[in-house]
Amino acid sequence: MDKEVKQIGLKMEIREVTSNKADYMEILLIGDEDELMINKYLEQSTFFVLYDNDILTSICAVIEIDSETVEIKNLATYPEYQNKGYASKLLDYVCNRYKEKFRTVILGTGENETTLNFYKKRGFVETRRIKNFFTDNYSHPIVENGKQLVDMIYLKKSLT
Ligand SMILES: CC(C)(COP(=O)(O)OP(=O)(O)OC[C@H]1O[C@@H](n2cnc3c(N)ncnc32)[C@H](O)[C@@H]1OP(=O)(O)O)[C@@H](O)C(=O)NCCC(=O)NCCS
Repeated sequence: MDKEVKQIGLKMEIREVTSNKADYMEILLIGDEDELMINKYLEQSTFFVLYDNDILTSICAVIEIDSETVEIKNLATYPEYQNKGYASKLLDYVCNRYKEKFRTVILGTGENETTLNFYKKRGFVETRRIKNFFTDNYSHPIVENGKQLVDMIYLKKSLT
């Protein structure tokens, strides 16, 4: 069952999801287009889902890596709701939610300037690069903004 965790204003709310997570596959595929890769983190993830007027707009999947670190495995907003601030709100919420018990949030993403800038503007810094991650781990080429993704870039943000 979904747990209502935060009411933002009158219409917007963020819910924490710990069961029936496969129900969110459609929106997860916006952030990560390979269902096999999603299934690798689906069970251990906690999902935070943002609803505006009871309409699902965005999702953030988080796993606890160790006693100090959480990792965002997926952050996505349906295309028709993008650029309205939903993902930023969700990211803020997630960072606040974990800051009492964890020191750092990390995430890996493709080498896509728009995505990297999105995170850098919100306090993340690049830490390392995993060579050939997308070509080695995905069954087909992943293309974003007309460019095939090859390496994975890891970013981190301090929660303290
Ligand atoms: C990245 C994404 C989650 C942003 O969601 P959103 O709800 O539109 O985010 P906000 O409205 O809070 O912020 C908009 C920002 O996203 C950026 N953005 C818009 N479309 C984007 C896209 N297709 N890919 C990456 N970033 C995008 C905008 O440049 C804007 O950045 P700015 O505020 O720094 O100028 C959303 O665009 C998305 O789901 N993209 C596809 C999946 C993806 O690439 N996820 C990121 C890696 S996990």
